Amino acid sequence: MPSTSSLKQMKVAELRSLAMSTLPEVPSNLSKMKKADIIDLFQVTSSSSSSSSSPSADTYKYDSSEVDPYSDVRSRLESLAAHSAANPPPEHHITLFAAFTTYLGYAVLICVGHLRDFFGLTLSIGSRYVPATPRTGCAPLLKSWDNFYNRRLYHRIQDCFNRPVGGGEGAKCRMKVMERVSYDGNKTMTVANRKTNKNTQFQDGEYNETDAEGDVVRRCLNLGSYNYLGFADDWNETCEEDVLSTLSVAPVSCSSPRVEVGTHLLHRELELLVARFLGKDDALVLNMGFNTNATTIPALVQKGDLIISDQLNHTSIVSGARASGAAVRVFKHNDHHDLDAVLREAIVMGIPRTRRPWNKIVVMVEGIYSMEGEYCNLKNIVEVCKRYGVYLYLDEAHSIGAMGKTGRGCCEYTGVDTKDVDVLMGTFTKSFGGMGGYIAASQDVVDYLRTKCAGSIFHNSLSPIVCQQIITAFKVIMGEDGTKNGRNKLRALRDNSNYMRMRLTDMGLHVLGNYDSPIMPVLLYNPTKIAAFSRECFKRGLAVVVVGFPAVPILMSRARFCVSAGHTRKDLDDALVKIEEVADLCKLRYARSTFG
Ligand SMILES: Cc1ncc(COP(=O)(O)O)c(C=O)c1O
Repeated sequence: MPSTSSLKQMKVAELRSLAMSTLPEVPSNLSKMKKADIIDLFQVTSSSSSSSSSPSADTYKYDSSEVDPYSDVRSRLESLAAHSAANPPPEHHITLFAAFTTYLGYAVLICVGHLRDFFGLTLSIGSRYVPATPRTGCAPLLKSWDNFYNRRLYHRIQDCFNRPVGGGEGAKCRMKVMERVSYDGNKTMTVANRKTNKNTQFQDGEYNETDAEGDVVRRCLNLGSYNYLGFADDWNETCEEDVLSTLSVAPVSCSSPRVEVGTHLLHRELELLVARFLGKDDALVLNMGFNTNATTIPALVQKGDLIISDQLNHTSIVSGARASGAAVRVFKHNDHHDLDAVLREAIVMGIPRTRRPWNKIVVMVEGIYSMEGEYCNLKNIVEVCKRYGVYLYLDEAHSIGAMGKTGRGCCEYTGVDTKDVDVLMGTFTKSFGGMGGYIAASQDVVDYLRTKCAGSIFHNSLSPIVCQQIITAFKVIMGEDGTKNGRNKLRALRDNSNYMRMRLTDMGLHVLGNYDSPIMPVLLYNPTKIAAFSRECFKRGLAVVVVGFPAVPILMSRARFCVSAGHTRKDLDDALVKIEEVADLCKLRYARSTFG
């Protein structure tokens, strides 16, 4: 329930509308009640309903009436999860062979790229792929390593990225991906169409079909979207009714920032719901997760302040930190001992040159690291922050809704009180099937951000229709829709993730991350294996995400599987058979053999 202080700041009309949509029992004389009485009503109802509406502590247990799809491996799954919770994830050492062949692969690609540029410029062979001549009198707009990398490395494998998804499929676990062809050596891609393209080069097969327009689509199991709780799959049963009915009473866009005329009642309802879910005074909702970090961090910290950031923090945190003007120090990924050392030195040495104390120090970490599949060592990090009296900012983009027995994220999972984290940030893009981001914090911090953060002042507010999607998803997760859907989703996500991780590890692949995390990166190492893995999986009807340098270190290219509550055990078993085939083809079993 929203805190009393946040309720007091609302107008009577807002309170009434909130009561109508959130309280289980609304008195018939609500429209005549005074503000103080409505606030009392929230307090009474919250104390009687909050404990019964949340999924219970035994979220993961199956009742006698339910069928456990993993009963045959249940005890192994539970012991692996318990072991993982008590120990850091295993470290995978890259073999000399993999390191050498990876460097060699990049060296060959770069040399061949430069040779092609040389012949392109001198003999005009393939010159259309060489950077355009700059406008007279101007420095070249595009002339850098990035440009070379794009043309000579990325374009070779660009069919593995930006694959368009067929209409209406979104992030669903079973989706149709458009088949594409290239007639210019992969420089540009066109959707394959049986009516217009002749000599299409894609391979026909059991997963291909042609739609009414003649476009060729491939039926795939989606192992790449952040559809953690499967709201994309059961949207018609869980969210459609609320979202579609909102369309007739709320605009798709407010066409204005939050502080101007862009705040709809649904924004406020969502903010209060987020605050209640996380046990914070209040929350601020913005229209994009990335911008939530990129615009609130500069509002919170400035010159004279110090940010201490985990080495593997997301680029949105990095952007916010750079834009803030604060000094930034980095500590070793998830290592609280290193954080302790960095903090001690920063406090002892103070601001360089003047040696004056820092105005404030903020430690920034993530709940689940999206490229590592690893969750934050939050308990120890909180302890260090408390010891030195510094602030903690936690990005829960991937953990909110996906971790913890009631989906309350990394704090719940690691047993940390949300009050011990000063600023909780998260996004609605993943578990909630929506978009946008939030900051949940104390009342004074949220009030300050409302008027100081660029995301609130300068960019368009989150679509009210999307707010409704998120509100409905929250209610499902919290069990306030009167069903066990939320509990079942949380349980299915955990079971599917742990099963997939166990089987991938059994295969002898180098799998990163922890049990209970829905993200499973598998190391591919060699640049040639990035494309080979993606194409072979696609051929077999698996849509997977592959990631290479510079998004990850040069030696650490990977495939990243994201598991969903919407997957069934059969989906995963079928996928695992195909992944095993591809792992053999691409020689990826590095945990079993030096040569993969
Ligand atoms: C840790 C983290 N923070 C922020 C974001 C940005 O979120 P959004 O995609 O909702 O803009 C992401 C995106 O994946 C992320 O991984």
